[in-house]
Amino acid sequence: MAKDGYGTTPAPGLWGWINARFPLESMLKEHITEYYAPKNFNYWYLFGSLSLVVLVLQLVTGIFLTMSYKPNAAEAFASVEYIMRDVEWGWLIRYLHSTGASAFFIVVYLHMFRALMYGSYRAPRELLWLFGMVIYVCLIAEAFLGYLLPWGNMSYWGAQVIVSLFGTVPVIGESLAEWIKGDYFISDITLNRFFALHVAAIPLVLVFLVVAHILALHQVGSNNPDGIEIKKTKDARGIPLDGVPFHPYMTVKDTFGLGVFLLLFCGIVFFAPTMNGYFLEAPNFEQANPMQTPPHIAPVWYFTPFYAMLRAVPSYFGTQVWGVIVMFAALMLPFFLPWLDRSPVKSIRYKGWISKLALAVFALSFVVLGYCGMKPPVGNLPLVSRVFTALYFAFFVLMPWYSRIDGVKPVPERVTYHAH
Ligand code: HEM
Repeated sequence: MAKDGYGTTPAPGLWGWINARFPLESMLKEHITEYYAPKNFNYWYLFGSLSLVVLVLQLVTGIFLTMSYKPNAAEAFASVEYIMRDVEWGWLIRYLHSTGASAFFIVVYLHMFRALMYGSYRAPRELLWLFGMVIYVCLIAEAFLGYLLPWGNMSYWGAQVIVSLFGTVPVIGESLAEWIKGDYFISDITLNRFFALHVAAIPLVLVFLVVAHILALHQVGSNNPDGIEIKKTKDARGIPLDGVPFHPYMTVKDTFGLGVFLLLFCGIVFFAPTMNGYFLEAPNFEQANPMQTPPHIAPVWYFTPFYAMLRAVPSYFGTQVWGVIVMFAALMLPFFLPWLDRSPVKSIRYKGWISKLALAVFALSFVVLGYCGMKPPVGNLPLVSRVFTALYFAFFVLMPWYSRIDGVKPVPERVTYHAH
């Protein structure tokens, strides 16, 4: 009988038949039952699997929405109303998808913050981090493209504002913006191409990247709240002493976390799907009107920190290009984190007070900028945005310096774990 990937004779019956022809058992072993996760994982480690769940939710609800949605300017808005009122369970599918978009960013932001705390971006996980960052940029593109589809007034004007930013690029800007729109203004043609990208191109890329992200993780193994490599201390069989099989230990933990997440998520879907305008904005309940801007144009909450940075820079010489550069740089800087952090230790647990303060100020600046980006830029808000934009940049730019001079605590040999 044929051997499987481990050189053993597969079980008889259907299971054996499959495994002689497809490495199902060895894949399940490598990635689930014999993937050794550090036993000191805390609940910050839940958000990776939650991101995966939300990704699947978005793909499935998205496919069902596509069955009744009409991607053309004359019918798009009405087709969404039709989904909400006439399609069986259409309202639920739509609210799952719109709430799912915000939930995606909530879990991904928490997932990224975990990586910042425990130094999960550091060697040997640089590529894992870079895949994560490309996923994040794709998520931004996916959410932006999807937002045009309901053809509401905020969809229209939001797209108008963002696409016009490309127009600020010197020399080629005008042509670039026109190329993206496929027209001289946001039109039916723009809606059509955004639809194609939102439902086919970007989701495909995202799925591919998520597979690469998890393969890269399993190649090097997970980091943990102590920032210690568990692969360094193995038993005679080569199994990390501080590792536990992902299944059943982490699958049980993640399932419990998923239950809590679903309670909160369903609470929003059923009782507050618009989240008071934070998840679905009021002007989007009116059809796109190229003749009338909404009273105050603001993106959905997950983009507002970047929007605040864009507006924080005054438009010198009548061009907004500096704001665009700052916004773009803010998005690009995290790509370089693995090489900016020079601390001898990975986890925040063993870093000194400067790194702790820097991380806290960074998190605060992201939240404050998010707030500033939602509000009209009046009163003190432009000044506040400028100060916190500077702090956001300082976190990255000064990191090679403060991470080196900061004190560190001794890192234990083995992970700290207290059985309950
Ligand atoms: C669709 C979005 C994403 C999915 C489905 C996803 C999935 C996962 C999963 C399942 C894990 C293992 C469990 C865990 O450690 O939480 C993981 C780990 C990780 N992810 Fe993601 N991820 C996504 C986005 C991102 C982004 C945007 C970043 C950062 C830019 C990122 C950075 C990381 C890092 C550094 C780890 C290793 C953490 C450690 O071992 O301490 N991920 N991801």
